Amino acid sequence: MNEMARWPMTGDVVLVPTMGALHEGHRELIRTGKTLAKEEGTLIVSIYVNPTQFNDTEDFKSYPKTFEQDYELCREEDVDLIFYPSDSEMYSGRESVSVTEKKLTQHLCGATRQGHFDGVCSVVTKLFNIIKPTTAVFGKKDYQQLAIIKQLVSDLNFSIEIIGAETTREQDGLAISSRNRFLSTEERKQSSAIHEALVAMTLNPEKQCSELITLGKSIIESEAPLSRIDYLEIVDRQTMEPIQTIDRPALAAVAIFLGNTRLIDNIEINSL
Ligand code: PAF
Repeated sequence: MNEMARWPMTGDVVLVPTMGALHEGHRELIRTGKTLAKEEGTLIVSIYVNPTQFNDTEDFKSYPKTFEQDYELCREEDVDLIFYPSDSEMYSGRESVSVTEKKLTQHLCGATRQGHFDGVCSVVTKLFNIIKPTTAVFGKKDYQQLAIIKQLVSDLNFSIEIIGAETTREQDGLAISSRNRFLSTEERKQSSAIHEALVAMTLNPEKQCSELITLGKSIIESEAPLSRIDYLEIVDRQTMEPIQTIDRPALAAVAIFLGNTRLIDNIEINSL
């Protein structure tokens, strides 16, 4: 890990943290990072499938590992450095300290994936301490994660600017994710209902959130009969707390299972 300290990092140091299995969504995050780093800066992509953020061992074991393709994508995008640590470099196995966020994690994925955000916060803190970036780029597809990381940086006094990058979508609206490759042809067809439902929920922001949620659920249930909804909620974009009416910047966020594959997505809703 001390090798990081020996690398000559010039200008702004921009980090794009990933778990690998890089796809076009990551490519966009990396391009955002490249623009932020400018000619004189250093763009680093970290690739580490962090075991502590998986609450399901099977999910961890089956998480795609595609380092050769990831390397190629980073080369194409002119990434300056790939940080690709081993488990033993990241975890001694004797740790007794972790980083916990207590407010923004109460709903959405925080409620349905116990311990997930402790793992994320702890590994991101480690990455920040090892790499010492000036800027880090996170995708808005993981909106709750982005909000939590912004809070972490503020609460733990990291001098790092956190940039949220827009979600990259397939033509039919499906948010690009490393997990999409696990969908069967039929599941993939039905998955476009997720974005369709979210868009429909933005059209009448004057309605009660409960009505918008019922609408979104009915679209998913009719267009994606193979799916099981984990959650579909409308929350305050700042606090991640459920709201009754869209009277402030809001977020509709969803997680569904299609077969064994869990997909998440969200959309911003603004008050009239
Ligand atoms: O969003 C991800 O890929 C991961 O949660 C992150 C931020 C790389 C931490 O492991």
